[in-house]
Amino acid sequence: MKHIDVRDIFGDKSYIGREVTVCGWVRTSRDSKNVSFLEINDGTTLKHLQVVIDKEKIKDYDAAMKLGSSVKVIGVICENPNNGVEINANNIEVLGEAPADYPLQKKRHTLEFLRTMPHLRVRTNTFNAVFRVRSVLASAIHNYFQSRGYVYVNTPIITGSDAEGAGEVFRVTTQPFDHGCKTEEEYYANDFFGKKAGLSVSGQLEGEVAAMAFGKIYTFGPSFRAENSNTPRHLAEFWHIEPEVAFAELPDIIEIAEDMIKTIISDVLEKCPNELAFFDEHFEKGLIEKLKTIISHKFEILEYTKAVEILKNSGRQFNYPCDWGCDLQTEHERYITEEVFNKPVFVINYPKDIKAFYMKQNPDGKTVAATDLLVPGVGEIIGCSEREADYDKLISAMEKRGMKLDDYSDYLDLRKFGSVPHSGFGLGFERILMYITGMSNIRDITLFPRTVGSVR
Ligand code: 4AD
Ligand code: MG
Repeated sequence: MKHIDVRDIFGDKSYIGREVTVCGWVRTSRDSKNVSFLEINDGTTLKHLQVVIDKEKIKDYDAAMKLGSSVKVIGVICENPNNGVEINANNIEVLGEAPADYPLQKKRHTLEFLRTMPHLRVRTNTFNAVFRVRSVLASAIHNYFQSRGYVYVNTPIITGSDAEGAGEVFRVTTQPFDHGCKTEEEYYANDFFGKKAGLSVSGQLEGEVAAMAFGKIYTFGPSFRAENSNTPRHLAEFWHIEPEVAFAELPDIIEIAEDMIKTIISDVLEKCPNELAFFDEHFEKGLIEKLKTIISHKFEILEYTKAVEILKNSGRQFNYPCDWGCDLQTEHERYITEEVFNKPVFVINYPKDIKAFYMKQNPDGKTVAATDLLVPGVGEIIGCSEREADYDKLISAMEKRGMKLDDYSDYLDLRKFGSVPHSGFGLGFERILMYITGMSNIRDITLFPRTVGSVR
């Protein structure tokens, strides 16, 4: 169906005076004495194109007046003092009529209401803006790594190990419900892979394998967590960017993470000015200013020990009081990043007992060379560490956690055959998208969110 994108018409004055074909869905319609007006949107821009219908010229266009109907309009592009341009219709063809009970009748619906119809909410300005930024951001992330010589690897989605104990694992099985097995072992022995399998919580361990050959790699794919966290920040299925860099220690990977975040934010500022202006107006006042400030200032680096001191001396009543050794809760993270520093903060050197087995043990014997990047409004967006490159120290950390070493023999081999210092991080794609758009619920930046008790 030959037609012109609405975004091209708004972007190119040479269309004025020309007859074109445009397609779209009707967003508003109104009727006056001699003319009727439609606003149509084809998804290529936030802007609606006004269609002017001369009643003398065009008959029988009732179905086009119904919100949600899809139309094909042939007409001449004219200047319009309010919108820039509009189209004077010569012909209107209704492609698909929407009935009067089409749910999106009001100009603005609440996000909660829209969550009940993920298949339709994408036709609103909010979701048009969200998904355009999401797409531009994905491209910016690939560009960042590609232009710096990183190799993009795809790590397995089905895994035979619980990667790192980052969260509860979804099981993958083809066994029927009534399998007739007496023990769990027997059940899995009869299963597709001959052993227990699940959906990966992280591609890191395989990413390390690739980094020990290609030097600098990144992954960009889905991770799955079956944790029972019903919060505005948790999905059971989220997209995960995990770079892994050989010959990099903690300060090196922190530098990379900060540079990457600033670069991708700059890209979005440049490529999505209209979408960001929309979020600034409707969802987070001052958003654009916030993003500009972030890219021009250094992020804070804060020792975990110091963070605990700040929390203890804050005079705040937290739901979870915090002592040295405790994992920071969202309320702590938000206090530090929003109220103390009001900018992104790398908290470094966490107690080893609350972090994963693979993190490099610091000489103090108590902490590991790990960092979380916390940002105002969202909390943790990056989990990062230098990896333990010493075979014996790694074995002892695993034994202490009661891990089955046999399951990790490939991973352990990396420490036997030319081990090098190396580091990496995991960035939650939806988390950084929340930060950049100002959207406060992760369900509103995901096409079909999967959360506890909800899948469709
Ligand atoms: O901190 P996490 O668990 O770290 C890892 O998985 C490491 N293997 C990363 C690495 O070093 N390669 O997860 C990393 C990030 C978090 O900071 C968060 O942004 C995001 O993944 N994340 C989630 N996002 C949405 N919903 C969830 N349930 C998430 N769990 C983690
Ligand atoms: Mg984490």
